[in-house]
Amino acid sequence: MVELTLPTNSKVGKGKEFKAPNAKNVKVFNIYRYDPDDRDTNGKPKNPRLDRYEVDMDSCSPMVLDALLKIKDETDSTLTFRRSCREGICGSCAMNIDGTNTLACTKHIGEVAGEVNIYPLPHMPVIKDLVPDLSNFYAQYESIKPWIQTQSSAPSGRERLQSPEDRSKLDGLYECILCACCSTSCPSYWWNSDRYLGPAVLLQAYRWIVDSRDEFTGERLDDLEDPFRLYRCHTIMNCAKTCPKGLNPAKAIAEIKKLMVERRV
Ligand code: SF4
Ligand code: F3S
Ligand code: FES
Repeated sequence: MVELTLPTNSKVGKGKEFKAPNAKNVKVFNIYRYDPDDRDTNGKPKNPRLDRYEVDMDSCSPMVLDALLKIKDETDSTLTFRRSCREGICGSCAMNIDGTNTLACTKHIGEVAGEVNIYPLPHMPVIKDLVPDLSNFYAQYESIKPWIQTQSSAPSGRERLQSPEDRSKLDGLYECILCACCSTSCPSYWWNSDRYLGPAVLLQAYRWIVDSRDEFTGERLDDLEDPFRLYRCHTIMNCAKTCPKGLNPAKAIAEIKKLMVERRV
């Protein structure tokens, strides 16, 4: 597995320290902080910093998201991060915890030995603190037309049916929550995210390619037949190792490549 290198690591300075004076059971969280509105005397945004928070684990629930919420509620309300479902469903709390991209709400604090280092997803522009700018990621998702496309008219009075066998082809694909952990762990995506679609979006593209009800499979493959959009995957496999839902985007990409070959012969 390729080691994740965080883009702004070299510029991250030492930040503030927040103590938990009366706590007997302390865990330390080192958290990346960046605020574009925080300017130096020349009017330039200040470099990011790593703030150090002591958290009393005797009054903290077990997940990393619980600790972030406790810090925000009780210690430092300026700490900024996304979250919604706290159940591993919405994908919004994706971040880099202890060197791995994952979901803060399903990551047990107890799994991290020692201090917990938390950064935003790597190689994405940062809006503030742990909030990456996912505009390009979502535009790429939209580009694969993630909805059913048909030419035939729908059967009257009922939905388009699928056999259990055809439905099972979507297993391992429909569960994707678009958290972007995989794409932001992929070195090919780091260097070519303007043109390479990355593992998350390609997994989603395959989800529609194998859907038996979709009638635009050829057009979908045409759209991916491109040296960058698809073929920048070099089977590095970080995507499959990091996915917090246990999915395998690399396999989906390999299946698309196989279909490309099959339709040529
Ligand atoms: Fe997240 Fe996994 Fe979907 Fe990638 S494949 S976006 S890591 S759920
Ligand atoms: Fe990247 Fe996964 Fe391919 S890490 S290079 S998308 S196998
Ligand atoms: Fe929804 Fe973590 S808050 S996945």
